[in-house]
Amino acid sequence: MRSAELDEFVERVNERTDIYSVVSRYVTLTQRSGRYWGRCPFHNEKTASFSVSPEKGLFYCFGCGAGGNAFKFLSLIENITYFEAVKLQAQRLGIDLPEKKSSPEEERRRREEKSLFKINEFAQDFYHECLIKTARGEIGRKYLAARGITEETIETFKLGYAADDWENLLSNLTRRGFSPEQIEKVGLIAGRKNSSGFYDRFRGRIMIPINDVFGHAVGFGGRILKSEDDNIPKYLNTPETEIFNKRNLLFGLDKSNRIIGSTGVAIVVEGYMDAISLFSAGIKNVVATLGTAFTPEHAKLILKYARKIIFCYDSDEAGQRATLRALPIVQAAGANVFVIKVPEGKDPDEFVRKNGKAAFDELIKNAASLVDYRMNYVLARADISTIRGKVTAFREILPVIAGIKNPSVRNEYKKKIASALALDEQLVDDEWKKFSSNANAEKQSPVKKIKSLSTDELLIKEAQESILRMAWHDEETLDYIKFHLPREIFTETQREILSRLEEYRKQGKRLTQISAADEFSEEVNAELSRILIDGADDPRGNDKELELFYDSVDILRRAVLQKKYETLLAEADEYIPSDEETYKEKVRESLKVRNEINKLKISN
Ligand code: UTP
Ligand code: MN
Repeated sequence: MRSAELDEFVERVNERTDIYSVVSRYVTLTQRSGRYWGRCPFHNEKTASFSVSPEKGLFYCFGCGAGGNAFKFLSLIENITYFEAVKLQAQRLGIDLPEKKSSPEEERRRREEKSLFKINEFAQDFYHECLIKTARGEIGRKYLAARGITEETIETFKLGYAADDWENLLSNLTRRGFSPEQIEKVGLIAGRKNSSGFYDRFRGRIMIPINDVFGHAVGFGGRILKSEDDNIPKYLNTPETEIFNKRNLLFGLDKSNRIIGSTGVAIVVEGYMDAISLFSAGIKNVVATLGTAFTPEHAKLILKYARKIIFCYDSDEAGQRATLRALPIVQAAGANVFVIKVPEGKDPDEFVRKNGKAAFDELIKNAASLVDYRMNYVLARADISTIRGKVTAFREILPVIAGIKNPSVRNEYKKKIASALALDEQLVDDEWKKFSSNANAEKQSPVKKIKSLSTDELLIKEAQESILRMAWHDEETLDYIKFHLPREIFTETQREILSRLEEYRKQGKRLTQISAADEFSEEVNAELSRILIDGADDPRGNDKELELFYDSVDILRRAVLQKKYETLLAEADEYIPSDEETYKEKVRESLKVRNEINKLKISN
């Protein structure tokens, strides 16, 4: 959604934004040769290759290739969208957000949502009162007390009890003026199958209210008191509704988000009871999934508050497998992932109740890194009695080790695994080489590798960049570039930038920093920043830059012609000895190209 108003808002925030003050909140910067330098927050490094240019309003990391303007920086470091970053910066600058005019449809939806929250709130209070005040709730009070759950915890989580009755909640809520159709919409009641009317979904269960991150009541988990009957599920949850979607909800996050933010760590557990138990033991940076797999949406949600995520799932096989499945999701989302395996086959709830907070803190302190955890997991299950079993195990771990950015740490792990599996070092090296050449062929890592270039390649790279810089600042040069150079001479990213510039020119618009960062892919954005951070602010009236531009076009033209020349010569060779005529024709053509090359000002 774009509107003139929004554009104007973004422009206003941009005008008052100083990239130096934005970045220095997160990175220590020191001044050197007209720029600021610091250690890149987006990859691990010892030397400062992260640079900020306040005049240009750009940052760029020469180590990992991340780059862009202040909003881009904020969106990367806070793990929020570009527009959220603009809003965050506006907030920090005290600029008001533009008034959102909502459509009647949006207005209707918001009202509907509000009324659904309301129903859940009433139900929550009703169940809670039933638990703490009524005779029917006594059985629930006893159950919770036996599990070591205090009255304070019952208050904090507003735990409740749903009496074993078919219409208890239904009649109470309808008396308050809610229609059965509305109540059904939040999943608290269901339509009877064989007759008209409705009945309570939750009966004879401890009720655990589930809130979204803003604290709105969106659903419930209901635990059965006894679990003798295997046909009755231990937990019954609110079904998926307009306001209850397990993929985007984390139990407890409404209470723990602030402390997760301030400690920079989130602990993820599997069960409601685990979260409740840890929280009431004083480990408050905890959330639980709602009995479903951990999703990328969950990762994103947590990353709004913290970068470090510690998984503490049940130590049984199911819990460990669930951990394993969650890890790549969280890693891909950019989190620092750690794993706690609760000793003695316990779940976090049992452990903390038996051993206390200090013991759990110790587990947190010793949490295994993602790599260690994966290694231990594979090693514990590997068949090391055969070479085959050992190689299989090694291959399973390879991608994990390859994912380690720091080369010396990576090597350490390679050695560690080789010795743990008693694998021959030569074999390890072979497998490693095979794997990395495959991986390289498959896909380029999103973080660009700095490879060493030959002098020719370097010249070409510089030329491409100087041309793009000029095109960015002066769209009149686009025609000149188009006339003199084939598109293939540019990289894919550069081609995308050029065609964007042309598109905008056609529409009579100027591409500004802001719209660029908003619409371009990460790669294009980083490439642009890298190119723009070098060179003059505005190269148009600058003789040196102009000369550089024309030289650059010549350098690229020469590269194009050189290639053509070589191709023609190779083609000519094909006709020896069969067809002397064509051979001569090809050679003549190639000589013409050679002549063109010689006419270029730049030649070697
Ligand atoms: P657990 O059985 O580990 O839950 O299932 P728990 O919270 O530790 O339960 P207690 O300690 O026995 O009371 C983990 C989660 O899986 C979901 C729930 O979200 C539960 O918290 N689950 C489990 C269900 O949705 N339905 C079930 O029948 C069982
Ligand atoms: Mn449990």
